[in-house]
Amino acid sequence: MRITGTGHASMRIDTAAGSILCDPWVNPAYFASWFPFPDNSRLDWETLGNVDYLYVSHLHRDHFDAEHLKRFINKKATVLLPEYPTSQLEDELRELGFTSFLRTKSDEVHELDGGLKIMIQALISPTDGPIGDSSLWVEHDGIRVLNQNDARPTDLSRFNELGHVHAHMLQFSGAIWYPMVYELPDAAKTAFGKQKRDRQFDRTWRYIDDLKADHVFPIAGPPCFLDDELWQFNDIFGDEGNIFPDQAVFLEEYAKVGGTNGIVLLPGSVTSLTAAGEAETTHPVPVDEFFANKQAHLEEMRERKAPIIAAEKASWRHPEIDVLGELKKRIEPLLEESIYMAQGVGGPVRFDFTDSFGPTGEILESIVVDFPGKQVRPYAGEKVRYRFKTGRALVEHLIHIDEGDWVNSLFLSCRFSAARIGQYNEFVYAFFKCLSEERLQYAEGWYDEHEKAVEAEDTQFGDWTVQRRCPHLKADLSRFGVVDGNVLTCQLHGWKFDLPSGRCLTSVGHKIRASKTE
Ligand code: FES
Repeated sequence: MRITGTGHASMRIDTAAGSILCDPWVNPAYFASWFPFPDNSRLDWETLGNVDYLYVSHLHRDHFDAEHLKRFINKKATVLLPEYPTSQLEDELRELGFTSFLRTKSDEVHELDGGLKIMIQALISPTDGPIGDSSLWVEHDGIRVLNQNDARPTDLSRFNELGHVHAHMLQFSGAIWYPMVYELPDAAKTAFGKQKRDRQFDRTWRYIDDLKADHVFPIAGPPCFLDDELWQFNDIFGDEGNIFPDQAVFLEEYAKVGGTNGIVLLPGSVTSLTAAGEAETTHPVPVDEFFANKQAHLEEMRERKAPIIAAEKASWRHPEIDVLGELKKRIEPLLEESIYMAQGVGGPVRFDFTDSFGPTGEILESIVVDFPGKQVRPYAGEKVRYRFKTGRALVEHLIHIDEGDWVNSLFLSCRFSAARIGQYNEFVYAFFKCLSEERLQYAEGWYDEHEKAVEAEDTQFGDWTVQRRCPHLKADLSRFGVVDGNVLTCQLHGWKFDLPSGRCLTSVGHKIRASKTE
């Protein structure tokens, strides 16, 4: 089996029974904020795109690149489709010209021609990707590979059941706007960023340890930021609070916890795997040397890609759009139908729209999405818990293209600033990723079922009897829970709960049921 690195979360898997291209991403994503790094735009995509199977793990724009798929990927390829509750991924791929789909069942092995076996595990909570994320397991000729991608399953037991895995590809770096966009003093931002960076690595080590594969491939990021307005997010300034460590840093950190089996794939690197667990890798340029010159590579890319960013920016302004009127029309019916998410947000969310492409510049208009009042209206000077500041042009563009997911566009762009009083509230982001009837209904239904399911069973921590499933994403607390004093931490995403009151210390809502035996 041969694995070719094709950048970011993308790879091509070649076997004697056929080839699979995963998540090819080349064009900038999220308002031209994210670019793949190292650059993969000069690969021979005509050849790489001539494959038997295509796997797009989910619809995040750094995994689903419509323009690239349309132009370079063989439309005769069979799409290996994760089992998602909505048909959006299939619909979008059909629109690009793909016609052959294998609709897989989550967690079930499918046997393809020539003895090639695949299994896709689909995660379907409203907080997974843009409503869904997935991992691909592949077996051929006794060699097993898990492309975990950026999916965060509660554990890897389903993959372990299928036998020893030879190669494990997984995310290790950040892919979010927190804490950089928050209006916080620099010292606090660094402290939060450092915590986040440590948590990302801890989670990675836990997954690696769970699977115990022969070889570990750090993939799915970090992206690079080539616009001058976002340049500071690249991890080249020695900032320990930067959440985007690269593959070279991964190797260093992995070595500190005893990891010696990491393999970095540059775009164009090729690893040959054998069933005996051997791996031989060739690189287009030495990996150490490449990362030692990271800043120079980024600067060269910044210059080369500047016209692309400028062209994108030129397409965002649509001053003829009545932003308040349009948001009223689109969001108010959804507020009316939302029960769990509206309750979860619990108050008004304020948006300040500026005359720039980000949070700087003059504020032109302030509006409020009033969850309890179920309306979108001008801001009236009241105290709000959550506030966002971004360019009005960006929202005009979202309205213009009828974007139903502001996470997969505006928020991941990092072209905004945020402020909040109190804890993180996942419902704010869940709602703004569900700006369509289909998604809203799905998410509301999921929260309803989830609420009932997490209540069912108990587990024991010393004297404490605690509900067995984490109120966040149902992780088994008998496995992931750690109690220190009166605080229980779920190690899957690090959420903390105060046992005597049941209060979640990490996010608003999400109470845990716990009682102490006297
Ligand atoms: S499942 Fe996310 S913190 Fe427990």
